[in-house]
Amino acid sequence: MATDPHALIRLARECLDRSYAPYSRFHVAAAVVDDSGRVFTGVNVENISYGLSMCAERVAIFSAVAAGARRIAALAVTGSGADLLSPCGACRQVLAEFAAPDVVVWCDAPGEPHRWTVSELLPHGFAASRLGKP
Ligand code: THU
Repeated sequence: MATDPHALIRLARECLDRSYAPYSRFHVAAAVVDDSGRVFTGVNVENISYGLSMCAERVAIFSAVAAGARRIAALAVTGSGADLLSPCGACRQVLAEFAAPDVVVWCDAPGEPHRWTVSELLPHGFAASRLGKP
């Protein structure tokens, strides 16, 4: 599996029907690979109190972290919409916590998946170094 984009996108697509999105009806699924090659998936989980809803990317990342992962090697995301899907700002900041700036994020799109790095998605992001942390 490693970081093959098509395999990772396919895995995310296979999870899409587990998305819980009765309010937006916009289904999203994500797959992450950690630095040991372990794969974790997530779907968006909405709530009737809309602000409590959680994006697929963060569900996948938090699942990886809960399993002991600390470094993410790649992420893929797909959605039920026809267009290119790119992660929201909150997910970009969470991803930057666990992924190096050159880690690739594969975003499903008609045709070939779109490739962005973490630093392209979150340039000039808030970083631990700003707090004097390693
Ligand atoms: N959503 C995600 O899961 N990931 C994104 O990157 C963008 C948006 C979800 C949140 C909400 O459940 C639905 O898509 C519509 O915004």
